[in-house]
Amino acid sequence: MNLILSLIILFLSLSFTKVIGAEVNIYSHRQPFLINPFLEKFTAETGIKTNVVYATKGLAQRLKAEGKNSPADVILTVDIGRLYIYDDLDLLASIDSDVLDKNIPQNLKSPENKWVALSKRSRVIVTSKNRVNQGEISKIEDLANEKWKGKICSRPGSHVYNRALMASLILSLGEKAAEEWAKKFVANLSRRPQGNDRAQVKAIFEGQCDISIINNYYFGKLKYSEDTKQREWAKSVRLIFPNQGAEDRGAHINISGGGVAKYSKNKKEAVALLEFLSKAQSQKMYGEINFEYPVNPSVETTEELKSWGSFKSDSLPIISIAQKAYDAQKIIDRVGW
Ligand SMILES: [Fe+2]
Repeated sequence: MNLILSLIILFLSLSFTKVIGAEVNIYSHRQPFLINPFLEKFTAETGIKTNVVYATKGLAQRLKAEGKNSPADVILTVDIGRLYIYDDLDLLASIDSDVLDKNIPQNLKSPENKWVALSKRSRVIVTSKNRVNQGEISKIEDLANEKWKGKICSRPGSHVYNRALMASLILSLGEKAAEEWAKKFVANLSRRPQGNDRAQVKAIFEGQCDISIINNYYFGKLKYSEDTKQREWAKSVRLIFPNQGAEDRGAHINISGGGVAKYSKNKKEAVALLEFLSKAQSQKMYGEINFEYPVNPSVETTEELKSWGSFKSDSLPIISIAQKAYDAQKIIDRVGW
């Protein structure tokens, strides 16, 4: 009897240790306000503890330097250009997961199963409600029309968001036409490229220009800002999802995404986290917390995002955007964007 009891206790304590011991170490370029709510739910559901290193820069270099001794299991980042760097430096492990295969469309993941997209953001056109008529602009190409001379504001072209947009233009128009577009776009600028996406909306509000390009979630951040002024900026602009014509390619999108570190010691837990982030509950949370769109096609976006309009996305394999980044940057340099 004592022996059986001891064995039961031993068995229970071993399985208890296993559950308690399960953990996953995350290197995140995504901010705590966004990631923490996901991780709390993940731990509650799976019992897997999470540890996070947050940084805006330098995590890929750190992971590389740490090599086999790195504690990292999962990488979370924004922008395909930044995610692809990890792949390019051979810092990621192959992921084998039926759940991810099912939840994430083929064009939004690595062809070699090295990373997956977890949310989408659209780069949209914003125009002054008062000074640009509805329907006057419907495509990114329209921004090269000399009719808009002195009317456009922009963040510097070399920022990853604009570099990705430039890459999408190379891929859909061809290099020559894309450069022609960029030249004319820059000629239409009302001021030297400057500021972040929010600053472009502010510039429209203040009348420094009438048109700009921003990531869709910044519109939401301004619309619901605690700062009354920022809410006014948002009210002054109209959002346009570009290139929506029946034959057209759809709006350029970018992604946030993640992968498993090559030398992860907790690969099972790492994959479990990515799977968790691809499921319906999490997919909706990206919209609720940060106005981002789901990548999982079976998940509907939030009512708020729906109210901004439905749109079709450019369906290019997202990796091609990263692969064209170098050529895009060369054009950006040549035209002085
Ligand atoms: Fe951003």
